[in-house]
Amino acid sequence: MDEASIIAKEERYLAPVFQKYPVAAIKGEGAKIWDANGKEYIDFMGGYGVAIVGHCNPYVVEAVKSQASKLITCHGSLYNDVRADFLEALASISPEGLTKIYLGNSGAEAVECAIKLARKATGRREIIATSGAFHGKTLGALSITWNPKYRSPFEPLLTDVKFVPYGDGQKAHETVSDKTAAIIVEPIQGESGIHPAPEGYLESLRKIANEKGCILIFDEIQSGLARTGKMWAHQHTSAKPDVMCVAKGLGGGFPLSAVIATENVMSAFKPGDHTSTFGGNPLSCAAGLATIRYLRDFDLAKRAETLGKKMMEGLEELRERHKVVREVRGRGLMLALELRFDVKNILLSALKKGVILLYSGKNILRFLPPLVISEEEIEHGLMVLDELLAEEDRSRLQS
Ligand SMILES: Cc1ncc(COP(=O)(O)O)c(C=O)c1O
Repeated sequence: MDEASIIAKEERYLAPVFQKYPVAAIKGEGAKIWDANGKEYIDFMGGYGVAIVGHCNPYVVEAVKSQASKLITCHGSLYNDVRADFLEALASISPEGLTKIYLGNSGAEAVECAIKLARKATGRREIIATSGAFHGKTLGALSITWNPKYRSPFEPLLTDVKFVPYGDGQKAHETVSDKTAAIIVEPIQGESGIHPAPEGYLESLRKIANEKGCILIFDEIQSGLARTGKMWAHQHTSAKPDVMCVAKGLGGGFPLSAVIATENVMSAFKPGDHTSTFGGNPLSCAAGLATIRYLRDFDLAKRAETLGKKMMEGLEELRERHKVVREVRGRGLMLALELRFDVKNILLSALKKGVILLYSGKNILRFLPPLVISEEEIEHGLMVLDELLAEEDRSRLQS
């Protein structure tokens, strides 16, 4: 099918919920994807952060092929060999003390589970979230997502929610009370435009949670799995969560998410409290196991750290060279370039030059490339950005 026909068919039938790029991707490998016309792109969007081990990673492809011919579905009420191995592998890369795992299918689902778990474990109702937070779009997760544009059309949502400014430990201390079940926070905010937690912030939340007897949840859905140069972004600090949400890259592209908690907290759940038909299905678990093996075998955390430093230097150079760039932020291969204007033109022009970029809000370019991206691909992406920013500088000087 040619590109125009694919686009027309999707437009006709798919619910109009996505901001679409005019690209019909039909093939991928590593950090590259190809459209239906055979045009090649470097993927700095990385499937919105999902393609951590690269598109069609060979470990994942092999594992899925092999598992598909053995057993595709196996409800959680039965035991399964590949699920058991995946759980063991996930526990082995989890922060110390987090040993019990709930398996789901998406990020928002993991967050729903974490909210219910916190309520059940504490017997309290209130959740404290932060300004700029993004935790998903199902009703519970949406209630603790900051942007009113996402929330207001669907209100009323959960009522026992309070937002505190991201990065402000003092305000969190004043707000958390004996009614608070949990504080939930992204160690590096993603959707708000890549904002790392200020130094000491996560530690201060840990202290508050200990004092007030509530649960501390780290949402590592975008920042986790080696992306920032450590397996989990909060490991750049000394703070430890009671509960952690993981999704996106966990299944190497397959729908798979996890809530990982201390044994004590997870013991609040009893059979029937929270289940999902597809949670922990063997095909996703096989993909997840292959993903974890690849992350370890090729030390992608180290790779993200090294390449992230190079890319950060390149972005800093762009900031020095172009007036339209306001700021560079991030860690590892979770980076952002904040501009002084709307990035829509840049996104579309980059596509023409074979580079897929991601945005945050109106004026931020966000980079979540596969961690297997090569140095040459990063350099090429930066060169294209340099050209596009120079054009923007010129056109803004003229107007
Ligand atoms: C930090 C964070 N939490 C939760 C979610 C929701 O995940 P999903 O889109 O898989 O429901 C996202 C998605 O971008 C995210 O970045």
